[in-house]
Amino acid sequence: MRGKFITMEGCEGVGKSTQVSLLIDYLTKLGKKVYFTREPGGTVISEQIRKVILDPENTEMDAVTELLLYIASRRQLTKETIEKKLEEGFYVICDRFTDSTLAYQGYARGLDKELIKKLNEIAVGEVTIDATVFLDLDPANSFIRKGGADMQDRLERENIEFHKKVYEGYRHIAAENPDRVICVDASAGKEEIAAMIIEALEKKGII
Ligand SMILES: Nc1ncnc2c1ncn2[C@@H]1O[C@H](COP(=O)(O)OP(=O)(O)OP(=O)(O)O)[C@@H](O)[C@H]1O
Ligand SMILES: [Mg+2]
Repeated sequence: MRGKFITMEGCEGVGKSTQVSLLIDYLTKLGKKVYFTREPGGTVISEQIRKVILDPENTEMDAVTELLLYIASRRQLTKETIEKKLEEGFYVICDRFTDSTLAYQGYARGLDKELIKKLNEIAVGEVTIDATVFLDLDPANSFIRKGGADMQDRLERENIEFHKKVYEGYRHIAAENPDRVICVDASAGKEEIAAMIIEALEKKGII
């Protein structure tokens, strides 16, 4: 049986990695086969691309170049890993995926959203996302949570106005894809959020 593909999305420091790890623990305890990956990265080639994207020294990077690098990294990850793991029946949990590109490069950088949707389609091919968890917390609060931006990360170094646009972008994406996107109030406690995610996934028949 084909596995299930779940993506975790939201602004910087909102608790994505925390919730991915709690969800993996839960699924593993249920005896499910779980495969974790993250974006950009997740394969040797994609991690090499990640370094180029996030390197704070790369101040000259053009916005379209940045977009294409994310798409290239995603294509490699999808073909090399996600497709195969889904075929093998794994729950594939990915920390960030296609919605991040639409939110950051589309809504925040202002690149053509239709073009990004097309490029995302090229990157993912036949793979479909069964559910996306959007951890809903505005960047002012999420940055407090992680104790400020990571200065080694070119995207995190962007100003608060940029991150507000990312957040508004995510809210649009969630509203446009109500069947796929599970919106979770990420201001709650870690365990409470994890329980809300599990309940929503159960309701959707994913776990
Ligand atoms: N619900 C929560 N309440 C309070 N603190 C939290 C909550 N969830 C996570 N944190 C804390 O906030 C910080 C950021 O969490 P985490 O690394 O999971 O976020 P992230 O979205 O993965 O961040 P990044 O965008 O940097 O990858 C961590 O110190 C974590 O322990
Ligand atoms: Mg993280």
